[in-house]
Amino acid sequence: MSKITAAITAVGAYVPEYVLTNKILETMVDTNDEWITTRTGIKERRILKEENKGASYLGIKAAEDLIKKSNLDPKEIDMVIFATATPDMPVAASAAYAASEIGAVNAFSYDLQAACSSFLYGMSTAARYIESGRYKKVLLIGADKMSSIIDYTDRATCIIFGDGGGAVLFEPNEEGLGLQDEYLRTDGVGREFLKIEAGGSILPPSEETVAKKQHFVQQDGKTVFKYAVSNMADASAKIMERNNLTSDDVNWLVAHQANKRIIDATANRMGVDDDKVLINIHRYGNTTSATLPLLLSDYEKQLKKGDNIIFASFGGGFTWGAIYLKWAYNS
Ligand code: UT7
Repeated sequence: MSKITAAITAVGAYVPEYVLTNKILETMVDTNDEWITTRTGIKERRILKEENKGASYLGIKAAEDLIKKSNLDPKEIDMVIFATATPDMPVAASAAYAASEIGAVNAFSYDLQAACSSFLYGMSTAARYIESGRYKKVLLIGADKMSSIIDYTDRATCIIFGDGGGAVLFEPNEEGLGLQDEYLRTDGVGREFLKIEAGGSILPPSEETVAKKQHFVQQDGKTVFKYAVSNMADASAKIMERNNLTSDDVNWLVAHQANKRIIDATANRMGVDDDKVLINIHRYGNTTSATLPLLLSDYEKQLKKGDNIIFASFGGGFTWGAIYLKWAYNS
């Protein structure tokens, strides 16, 4: 019997309607469209405005899109992984709620948090469950309501992030398609440079933490940028090297959308031309756990069975890595 590999067999996505443009941000903080565009590549991002809706709302909508497009019976889903840095609540898991809402009544589920690498690590986790032979349909959702943790008076962070959700289905494949290899890393030095200080077990919420705005994302952008460029490029080059892939062999780079300059540096290091680099940062900004599945959704029609795809991400923690996957279907 041939080895079971874990293939992506369906994709879904959702972004909220409200568009926060660079022009609107100019009226909120001391910034301008030219600076944002040249320094990050972002033109606009989506914001979830409806009250009492969290990341699960975005993830559920994305999963429903996947279910509708692929005619999937949600009762057949064995497992739901919800990759997110902005769960609805610290406890209980957004995954359990999302699974119930989409009708995945036979699934078990949990949240996975690794900042901007949540979805990439989720791919690794989903693949292991499939490769074990025990589970046949694993739904991986990546969704973040970044607007819930951003200080819209802080120009260093508010121009970067947006809200969105995406979902992919992993199923067993016996043609050798799907996830081939992965190189995943972490370095705890990162927690000083990209963090939300309060609200966790070190510094629980108090009037003081709220007054000091310690529940918002703080980022030392320059330092994070340096680590991101070198580590994401290294991981991507490494995975090509150990799978004997030349730049001609790589059909697509699907990289985390944090900054266009970081994506360009990674593509450059890999020797991959611009037309193979999936980009939507200009439309959505950095949606954290949703960037990779949103890219797959936007470019799904161009992806062909057998295509070699390199996924790469870098995020808070620090967390980063690259995954080599062979695409499994034509749509
Ligand atoms: O997804 C998780 C991982 N996160 C990342 O990968 C993000 C990595 N970092 C970055 O993408 C970039 O560092 C930023 C986009 C956040 C910032 O770009 P930068 O080129 O590193 O800018 P900087 O922080 O070094 O600031 C350069 C200048 C400063 O002015 P001075 O000191 O040179 O006079 C800033 O005050 O730009 C100024 N500046 C701004 N100006 C207009 C910073 N933010 C803004 C702004 N608008 N929004």
